Amino acid sequence: MSTVDRLRAAGCVFAEDEAALLHEAAVSPEHLEELVAQRVSGLPLEHVVGWAEFCGQRITITKGVFVPRHRTELLVDLATDLNPGTVVDMCCGSGAIGAVLRQRLPKASVYAADIDPVAVACARKNLTNVFEGDLFDALPRELQKHIDVVVANVPYVPTDDIRFMPPEARDFEARVALNGGTDGLDVLRRVAEQAAYWLKPGGHLMSETSTRQAHDALAAFTQAGLTATVVTSEDATAIVGILPA
Ligand SMILES: C[S@@+](CC[C@H](N)C(=O)[O-])C[C@H]1O[C@@H](n2cnc3c(N)ncnc32)[C@H](O)[C@@H]1O
Repeated sequence: MSTVDRLRAAGCVFAEDEAALLHEAAVSPEHLEELVAQRVSGLPLEHVVGWAEFCGQRITITKGVFVPRHRTELLVDLATDLNPGTVVDMCCGSGAIGAVLRQRLPKASVYAADIDPVAVACARKNLTNVFEGDLFDALPRELQKHIDVVVANVPYVPTDDIRFMPPEARDFEARVALNGGTDGLDVLRRVAEQAAYWLKPGGHLMSETSTRQAHDALAAFTQAGLTATVVTSEDATAIVGILPA
């Protein structure tokens, strides 16, 4: 059976495209067999080939790490438009957001942080200044009150909804990358509360959310003292907050 047929039989919708990428990634026929077997077993394509395309850039992705979604490109565009001098990719996962911002904003100082050591090791393959720890605790203290923009694509799936996610996410991305607590907003609330101590006056915090959660996410930003709005574009929803000057 050809690679395309095996992928199609396993339920891969874009079997031709995936087969081409697996052939490109393989260094030998044995390696190709290994890669196809991994994909057929359900491993996300990005984990099999070791990279994902995000904002036109190839981002290294290691197994277990959250695969950046195209809808998150909205956050990158919003942050780019602000032309920040200092920007933090909070809850960075692979560091996809920070890596694109570093490329788009060569004069900016870009920092990134994540609590998951596997994600931190992956992000360090994509950018420098990556710190490990719980939210802002990970960052150097001297950044307090010196950050222009925090981009935080936090986990926001309600705990009980994780079981309804596609198996590729549910079974192969770290639980800490998905689980947002009972209503999905636990981490977002903590980021919003802490951001006031780290942003410059007039600085911005932006987070992705879902349409369903947008009302409560907006309230969380407002309660944390930020002047906040909801921004939508195609399938993406973001909350953008400004710390009053
Ligand atoms: C939805 S993923 C987003 C990853 C990346 N920003 C992206 O868009 O591809 C959320 C990330 O938040 C991290 N995370 C979860 N809780 C955290 C915490 N308390 N402090 C720092 N990072 C956290 C997870 O390890 C995961 O990498």
